[in-house]
Amino acid sequence: MLSGKRILLIIGGGIAAYKSLDLIRRLRERGAAVTSVLTKAGEEFVTPLSVGALAGEKCYRHLFDLTDEAEMGHIELSRAADLVVVAPATADLMAKMAGGHADDLASTLLMATDKRVLIAPAMNVRMWLHRATQRNIATLRADDIRFVGPNEGDMACGEYGPGRMAEPLEIVAGIEAMMGDGPLEGRHLVVTSGPTHEPIDPVRYIANRSSGAQGTALARALRDLGARVTFVTGPATVPPPGGVAVVAIETAQQMLEAVQAALPADAVICAAAVADWRVANASGSKMKKDGSGKAPALEFAENPDILATISQMKKGRPALVVGFAAETDDVIAHATAKRVRKGCDWIVANDVRPATGIMGGTENAVTLISAGGAEEWPRLPKDEVARRLAARIADALGAGG
Ligand code: C5P
Repeated sequence: MLSGKRILLIIGGGIAAYKSLDLIRRLRERGAAVTSVLTKAGEEFVTPLSVGALAGEKCYRHLFDLTDEAEMGHIELSRAADLVVVAPATADLMAKMAGGHADDLASTLLMATDKRVLIAPAMNVRMWLHRATQRNIATLRADDIRFVGPNEGDMACGEYGPGRMAEPLEIVAGIEAMMGDGPLEGRHLVVTSGPTHEPIDPVRYIANRSSGAQGTALARALRDLGARVTFVTGPATVPPPGGVAVVAIETAQQMLEAVQAALPADAVICAAAVADWRVANASGSKMKKDGSGKAPALEFAENPDILATISQMKKGRPALVVGFAAETDDVIAHATAKRVRKGCDWIVANDVRPATGIMGGTENAVTLISAGGAEEWPRLPKDEVARRLAARIADALGAGG
């Protein structure tokens, strides 16, 4: 299952580093290639020679190594892998990750990577339970960092409790789960997300309150099912997930061009809150008050409808096109009409009246509208809505069946 995959393994400074030598062997047995990085503290526990010998490749150690940089720069090193694994992940490495430090090769790679990251923490039980570590754990989980372990048991320091690094085979299972053949393996899906910004002049723009949370959760859920995801995002407030191809745009017109450039795709999911109009007479230089008391008259032009454009493609239309509809009244009737008008396959409708607390909240109550009718889902956390929707998309594409 791991054949042909490349793992970037960062070995931190803990006694559990000896288990990472075995981890390298287990990964190579399964056909994976391992690029190894040893931190300075890690070198106190295992040697670059043993790590490099087991990996069958050189072990990287220093950030400012001229030979290393000439062979493969640190940015490339962090991007060439399919997955980044940190084992053992010490309290210090986790704190650096949570704080965004980049003062050695390991932490710099973790900052520079666009790949998913799995960590296998290992530390003394008091350090694991310390408020600072617990805060860092919450931050890393929110940043979409995956954990395997730690396990509970006797520790090398003589204490007992959580903090033992997961065994190599448990880490391998964690890696396989993240890289396994999900039902959307080999499929390409495009997700639009976030607001658009429509310029008035070089410094001002028209925007909306979309955070991009919905589209981001969906892209993550599709990625977790093995899809190759192109994530076309406006200036959102939530960061994009790792492991997807991010195309950052500002305007509706740029979003349409980016979606068209990303085709062909098996499905396009339009979760973005696209501005319906742009300023037709946007100024090339900053507009100034002229003292006359007269406000400038903005003229508007209609933006292209990305969802409708993709839905109505004559040639090369994706097999599934999904739109969203945020409504404040007659949700099902309006969304049903919208599905027909735009020509998409599904509309995910939700009631965004302020009383529902859905807008800006963590939960969502959606109705999935297709040619077959309307299916009301219970109120669920937004991540769970995304996972269910991703599973339905996989089903509809006949993936993994
Ligand atoms: O018409 P309305 O804006 O309510 O439609 C919402 C759906 O259409 C969303 O899926 C949104 O991403 C998409 N849309 C689009 N391009 C536009 C306007 C909306 O793709 N210009």
